[in-house]
Amino acid sequence: MEYITLNNGIKIPKIGLGIYALNDEDTIVKAIDDLGYRLIDTARMYGNEKILGRAIRRCSVDRKDLFITTKVYGSDRGYEKTKQAIEDSLNNLELDYIDLMLIHEPYKETKEMYKALEEGVKEGKIKSIGISNFNKKQYLKLINNCEIIPAINQVEAHVFYSRKELQKTLEENGTIMEAWSPLAAGKNNIFTNKILQEIGEKYNKTPAQIALKYLLTRNMVIIPKSANIDRLKQNISLFNFELKREDIEKIETLENRKSLFGWYD
Ligand SMILES: NC(=O)c1ccc[n+]([C@@H]2O[C@H](COP(=O)([O-])OP(=O)(O)OC[C@H]3O[C@@H](n4cnc5c(N)ncnc54)[C@H](OP(=O)(O)O)[C@@H]3O)[C@@H](O)[C@H]2O)c1
Repeated sequence: MEYITLNNGIKIPKIGLGIYALNDEDTIVKAIDDLGYRLIDTARMYGNEKILGRAIRRCSVDRKDLFITTKVYGSDRGYEKTKQAIEDSLNNLELDYIDLMLIHEPYKETKEMYKALEEGVKEGKIKSIGISNFNKKQYLKLINNCEIIPAINQVEAHVFYSRKELQKTLEENGTIMEAWSPLAAGKNNIFTNKILQEIGEKYNKTPAQIALKYLLTRNMVIIPKSANIDRLKQNISLFNFELKREDIEKIETLENRKSLFGWYD
């Protein structure tokens, strides 16, 4: 596994497993033990923190070598509720610290929620904190009103919408961009895309691998989801080749500058 160093010196794996709608404990254990996944991305909204907690206990990798992300959401709005959410997530995951806790999307109560997360860091309950689905304006507003600059902004990013402008602002201020739906959740016929296929043939890789590798060349953390062992293996086998500049330029012709999920910049 390769890592990116966050603004607090902590290292985050460049590839993780997103487990939205992936509720199979055995698959998570196999991903960790047999395939080398170290970052697992859940959220309170996904309802599978307990499943992940059991998988963590069952797997044979030391807890300290895993990187566990979860997120507070609409039901946790407010300072007190976020404080409680941290405790609940620690209980669900049966962990004594969470590696990364994010605010799932901007809320009216973002400032208070973020303050509760900052306190979680000071209390040793969370190692790193961040946000998700914040656009440039929302991000800049938060960083002007917080003590700890978010380590991560987890946003929709894939070959059709790769967020160059947002990423520039984030990086200028010390925040790493993490891509959700890095395979566009299969939309736009990504897996049979001609450009990705042709490039894949050159490197003996699948279109999915080319699409993911592009995001890695852009210094993003990626969290593709798969419930299938062969595809999980593909998605983590990205460190034994480098895309040539000409191929990166071809991939960039796929850019639409528009969310596929109704988010706005
Ligand atoms: N913060 C947020 O608001 C937010 C929003 C959405 C998602 N997320 C996070 O991002 C993670 C990933 O996003 P996502 O699940 O929406 O989309 P994704 O990872 O872009 O795509 C997942 C889809 O692609 C298929 N797939 C995976 N690897 C493949 C491969 N190598 N070849 C062909 N098909 C492949 C999967 O099917 P199989 O399972 O059958 O392989 C699944 O249908 C989520 O699990 C979640 O952790 C966060």
